[in-house]
Amino acid sequence: MARSGKVAVIGAGFYGSTTAMRLAEYDIFETVVLTDVVDGKAEGLALDMNQSRWIEGFETKIVGQTTGMDGSGYEAIQGAEIVVITAGLPRKPGMSRMDLIETNAKIMRQVAENIAKHAPGTVIINVSNPLDEMTALAQIVSGFPHARVIGQAGMLDTARFTHFVAEELNVPVASVTTLTLGSHGDTMVPVASACAVNGKPLADLLPADKIEELVVRTRNGGAEVVALLKTGSAYYAPSAAAARMAKAVHEDSGSVMPVCAWVDGEYGLAGAYLGVEAELGKGGIRKIVETPLTDGEKALLVEAYEAVKTKQADVKDL
Ligand code: LAC
Repeated sequence: MARSGKVAVIGAGFYGSTTAMRLAEYDIFETVVLTDVVDGKAEGLALDMNQSRWIEGFETKIVGQTTGMDGSGYEAIQGAEIVVITAGLPRKPGMSRMDLIETNAKIMRQVAENIAKHAPGTVIINVSNPLDEMTALAQIVSGFPHARVIGQAGMLDTARFTHFVAEELNVPVASVTTLTLGSHGDTMVPVASACAVNGKPLADLLPADKIEELVVRTRNGGAEVVALLKTGSAYYAPSAAAARMAKAVHEDSGSVMPVCAWVDGEYGLAGAYLGVEAELGKGGIRKIVETPLTDGEKALLVEAYEAVKTKQADVKDL
């Protein structure tokens, strides 16, 4: 496929810079714009990434841009078809994602306002935490149609679950299918009925208490990495997830992925951002795909919905 278009990544921390690097290495965009509020950081990282082009064999150019609190520098994202928001503080050991809500809401407001101003036709992929709430806030502040504001979480949680299952059974990750829905947090819903290895139900391969152990580890997957790193949070798996979503949008692929999307009647739930499976394409969410769930899984999804809906109602006042 020929290279075309522009994708922007807001925030050049580890999550943002790794996402920008992955997007550039796909070699499908003309330009990857990377911005940060720290003077020179995005420019420096972009220069470094560009110098890897000859070795890695890609032609996409990375443009670094410092942005000011007054919105200066945001002209660089003009015309971007996708903007990935990574700006915000990561967790410290012992913190929950929800502990970040007030600080990150202030950052999100500023970022989303500038995106709406400079790239009004773009698709936003938010990764900032607390994920479901910050995605809701990005939509409120930008005023974009819900289909054009998506959050990244389900791909990451599903990838973690898949990794743990593959490790436990000592099989290739490619042979494992798992799925997580719900929230990127305490009410994450592992869909055990959709989990299989080479088409064999996971429940036939592992005892229920072992599966539960892997589910708990998945739910705490982010915190486990934070505790080990002691400073900052995960970024290799998270950036892979965000970059794949951006690729699906750019290529108008119609890929079905677990993402954080606005539900409007699906599963009988409406009016909140929730982790569900959705088909991604040019305009963001093409449609939400309702996954067959057991009664128990459905009950957990409703519980997740109630939890995120309540929190999201408060977010507009932050
Ligand atoms: C995680 C953060 C990025 O789950 O939410 O690692």
